[in-house]
Amino acid sequence: MQIHASIPALRAALTSRGRIVFVPTMGNLHTGHISLMQQARAHGNTVVASIFVNRLQFGPNEDFDTYPRTFQADCDKLQAAGVDVLFAPTEKDLYPEPQEYFIEPPAIQNVLDGEFRPGHFRGVATVVSKLFNCVQPDVALFGKKDYQQLMVIRNMTRQLAMPIDIVGGETVRAEDGLALSSRNGYLSTAERAEAPRLYRLLTGIRQAIRSGASDFAALEMQAVGELAAAGWKTDYVAVRQQADLTMPKGVDVPLVVLAASRLGATRLIDNIEI
Ligand code: PAF
Repeated sequence: MQIHASIPALRAALTSRGRIVFVPTMGNLHTGHISLMQQARAHGNTVVASIFVNRLQFGPNEDFDTYPRTFQADCDKLQAAGVDVLFAPTEKDLYPEPQEYFIEPPAIQNVLDGEFRPGHFRGVATVVSKLFNCVQPDVALFGKKDYQQLMVIRNMTRQLAMPIDIVGGETVRAEDGLALSSRNGYLSTAERAEAPRLYRLLTGIRQAIRSGASDFAALEMQAVGELAAAGWKTDYVAVRQQADLTMPKGVDVPLVVLAASRLGATRLIDNIEI
């Protein structure tokens, strides 16, 4: 696996590489990331991963400084997964001067996670478009666990006519249902044992809707109450349309249930399609 930090070195390494498939990450890789790397192989000839903890998408009180940085272990995992090229820029490589031009997503950036993380999706969209400019992939893969992120990136790519196919990878879960996430490492032993409740509640809502429940607000409130009773602090549990994450206009459209809730100091997100 080649590793490049500078944009010119990366570009030189990616000339005449056929169809390029790209998986951007912030490192601290787990089985969910590795599953994306393995799926990437089916979409082209050259698999490129990136590791960059993007300051722009963290709020002032978020975990940018403490976000786990595990570069050597990540390289070993990427090598074993058959990744061809790793782009691992420093902040100076990617932001050699203060970033003053941004990709400003529309209203979707202010709902759900965006309501609780102002500026987050602007930071994500900006870095992803910049990474796309560096790697110039034909295909890019993103996990469905970050459902809203995937939608922002899909819409950005389409609206800005970027010639890139965006592929969503299924969420990888631990045996007890907890969605794999780099932030799971923050959980204490007791919190880790409690954490699968979030997925259980989402599957319960899915089951209720499949059985005919249509009062989504009641389902959401019940889930928030159950989380509160178990010590969680919930930002949202929301039943939305898959197509645009707006409130469902009927029960016959494809739905997704999304949730973000805090267990101790750790904010977990998850979702489930119906
Ligand atoms: O999902 C992530 O790890 C990040 O948001 C991404 C897409 C790599 C952008 O920094």
